[in-house]
Order: sequence, then structure tokens, then C-alpha cells
Amino acid sequence: MRKIAINETALRDGQQSLLATRLPYERFEAILPTMDKVGYGAVECWGGATFDVCLRFLNEDPWERLRKLRAAMPHTKLKMLLRGQNILGYKHYPDDIVREFVRCAVKNGIDIIRIFDALNDVRNMEVAIDETLKQGAEAVGDISYTTSPVHTRERYVEMAKTLKKMGVGAISIKDMAGILDPKAAYDLVSALKDGVDLPVIVHTHCTPGLGYMTYLKAVEAGADAIETASAALSGGASQPATETMAYVLEQFGYEVGLDKERLQEVSSFFKPVRDEGLASGLLDPLVLATDTDCLNYQIPGGMLSNLISQLKMLKAEDRLAEVLLETPHVREDLGYPPLVTPTSQMVGVQAVQNVLAGERYKRVGKEVAAYVRGEYGQTPAPVKPEIAEKVLGDTKPIEGRFADSLPPIFEQTKKELAGTLDTDEDVLSHILFPGVADKFFEWRKNGGKATEEDKLPASPQLQGAAVAYTIEEAKSLSSYVSEETAAVIMTAVAAEMGVPVEMLRFRDIREA
Ligand code: CO
Repeated sequence: MRKIAINETALRDGQQSLLATRLPYERFEAILPTMDKVGYGAVECWGGATFDVCLRFLNEDPWERLRKLRAAMPHTKLKMLLRGQNILGYKHYPDDIVREFVRCAVKNGIDIIRIFDALNDVRNMEVAIDETLKQGAEAVGDISYTTSPVHTRERYVEMAKTLKKMGVGAISIKDMAGILDPKAAYDLVSALKDGVDLPVIVHTHCTPGLGYMTYLKAVEAGADAIETASAALSGGASQPATETMAYVLEQFGYEVGLDKERLQEVSSFFKPVRDEGLASGLLDPLVLATDTDCLNYQIPGGMLSNLISQLKMLKAEDRLAEVLLETPHVREDLGYPPLVTPTSQMVGVQAVQNVLAGERYKRVGKEVAAYVRGEYGQTPAPVKPEIAEKVLGDTKPIEGRFADSLPPIFEQTKKELAGTLDTDEDVLSHILFPGVADKFFEWRKNGGKATEEDKLPASPQLQGAAVAYTIEEAKSLSSYVSEETAAVIMTAVAAEMGVPVEMLRFRDIREA
């Protein structure tokens, strides 16, 4: 009987996709000893957006959360998601920070690190993989799945071979948009199993409703593990349900090895968690719905809602059809980046700019310019020469890996903060999210007293999955509207949400 490992994601991707990552540790602490005995292949419980959100919204030290998870689940492999050279942030960090972060993650309890790069540029994954292995943990090489004329099966297999050479213990297919259909999953998993002698893990989302079929076909093709979320935190923007997949796989004669009684306990535990989310507005029923538009437009569901709210803010909702037609053109011009944070935002904003300006690439956002310069890594296909010329002008694209141009900063920062921040973990929190972490440290120092801002009622829109704009994003808006207009937009959004404009520092971190 073939054994299929089931990795539980409720504590990370499940709550990130449905509850905007807002579950405090205390809310799920009680179920951890039971989860520890279910028999999951692994529990993904850290990384992704959880780190940022702990500091930013929950007044929780993410490192402390990890240590508690470790202590509460001593028999289970704890897994995290890491954005390669971006670590858990949105920009590239120097190698010493990547290594230091991985070292501390393993030291505090992580067993498996799933590592990806938004552009599938393996140079941005190499240092993280190397350090994971050095620390004695397991590195999983994650392929960001997308479809385009250049994203062929052969290319994915080549990438997997390179990752194997780097030492990963397994290959994982990261289908953040849920567009990996059952046939493509069958073909890709078969090709990976044929071409690379490593376990294959499949990670999908239910957005367009393909997830369950995709997992079944992936398993038939030889996948060794699938990632699922406990029923109450499954479906919609999240993963297929653990209980359902375990049931179906057993019917087909696969061994999943989960303790049914305890699985039921876990299942029951998360139901009120979901209901609380629905009642508070944190869980938008729309993210639970099946949305097949992304199959037609070939863009992720999250990105579609992004585009709509962007146009709403610019009072240009009537241009949506044009923007949807423009989006694939921009993606093609930019060399078919997978649509995942941050490239999905980049392509979306540029498509809006092209339509509203009435001329393509008349205005170009800072991020697109950085992307074309090569700061995010190598693009899957070359950027169209005429676009590159228009965007870059006289500046030269970078050759080599962007992080090679970043000097080490850890020891220096640590020295500067000595006396204020005493642990390497705190120093890393500061380096990753400076303003946000410092505010948390202040709060901790004051014995956990709420600041004035914390006392403000957070509106469902602000907390929820709907996209809001940060001040920084308003500033980037100002690359194609004036600063004044950006300020007006921000003020209007804030008024609509019933919060002071300063609170609009939230950015959409539903990226999975
Ligand atoms: Co995901």
C-alpha cells in the first residue's frame, strides 16, 4: 500500500488565506497536543505572512510563537515557507541575513523549510537551501507554478534537477493561484517523478475549484505528499480539506496514516474559529466561494480583486475590461513572470497605468523599473527589448545576482542595537520589519500596554481579506497620479473604512 503524507496547513496557509493570518497563538494553543498525535507528514505553521502579522497586528513575538509550537508538538515535523532571498519580506536581503534567519528558524524549532522564488530564479534560493542543510534541517525546493508559452514541463523538470543538485530533499509544486488543473498536475508530477529521483509534494489552492481533483490525479501520478487544511479552514482561497482527502485516498487504497479520532477532534476545534471569523467579518464569505474567472483570465483570484479595488479607488471601474485585456500583454512584455507577490501587483499596476494613461509604458512604477533592471532576478523570458529600452533609458541592467551587490549587515546592526535588542532573533525581526518590529518592542517594554492606535476599532475591511493600500503604496500610486491625488485617494479610503489615514499601513499579504 503506497503511503501518502498529508501536510496540515491550518496554522499557516489555511488561516492566512481565509482569516488574513490573524489567529493569535492562544486561539489554537489548546489543540496543538492533539494535532501532535494525528500523524501528519508535517504541520506548516510558520513563515509566509505569519511573521509579519504577529509583529504588526497581534503583538506577538513570532520567535516566541515558534518556540511554543515546538514545545507543544514535539513529535511532529514543523514546516515553514520562506521566500528565498526575500526571507519573509518583500525585498532582497544580503546573504548573511538569509543565513542568520535560517539558523535561528532551525534553532527555534523548524524541521523543514519550503523555499521558493517568485521568478523561479534558483540563484535566489541557493543560499537559503545551503544554510538549511548546514543547520541540519530539511530543504524543500518549491517551484512557483504558472502557465505561459515558456513555462514548459521540461523547464520545470530542469529546475527540479538544479534544486536537487543544490541538495533539496524534496520538490514541491507551489500552485498559489489554484490554476494547476488535474491534467497538468498528472503530467507535471509524472515528469518530475521520471526526471528527478526525489519525493514530490503538491501544494494547491481551491480558488477555481480544481484542488481536490488536482490532488487525486497528482497522487495517481506518483506524488508523495499533498498539503491540506482542516475542514473549517479549507476551500475557497485555502487548500482542499484534510479530512476529505484522507477519506478519498483511503478509499482508493492509499495509506495516509492519520488517527481518525484525533483528526475529528481537530476538525471540531476549528469550526468555531471559522464561525468567529465569519461573525467578525474577518472571514469574507467571498474568499470561500469558487471563482472560475481566473481560469479564463489566467490571473489569480486575489489579483483580480486587487485590480478591481485599484480601479475603484481611481474611479475608473468602467475600464476593468480593458485592464483585463491589457494584463496578459504586460505579462508577455515583462517575460512571463509567475503571478505571485510581488510580481502580480507589479503586472496589475502596470496594466492599469497603461490603460489609464492611454499609452503603453508612458508611466512606469518604481517596482517595474527595478524588475526590468534585474533586481528581482532573471525573468523567465527576456523582457521585450523595446520595453526594456523605454523603461531603462540610459541605465544598465544588472548582471549577476542582485544580492551579490548587498554587503553583509547583521554584525553591524547587532552592534548598533546592543543594549536595546539582546537576541539575534530580535535583531532579525528589526532588520526584516524595522518600523513594525520596533513598535512591537516598545509595546513589550511597556509591559504590553496597548497604544492609542491599538485601541482603535479595526474595521472588517481593514482586517479582512479585501485589499487595502499602505501609505507606501499611495506613494507608488503617485508615480502615475500626483502626490496630492494619492493623498486624496488614501484619505477617501480611510474615511470609507472609518479609520485614521495613518492606519492604512496594511498591505495585502494574502499571498500564499
Ligand atoms: Co499556498
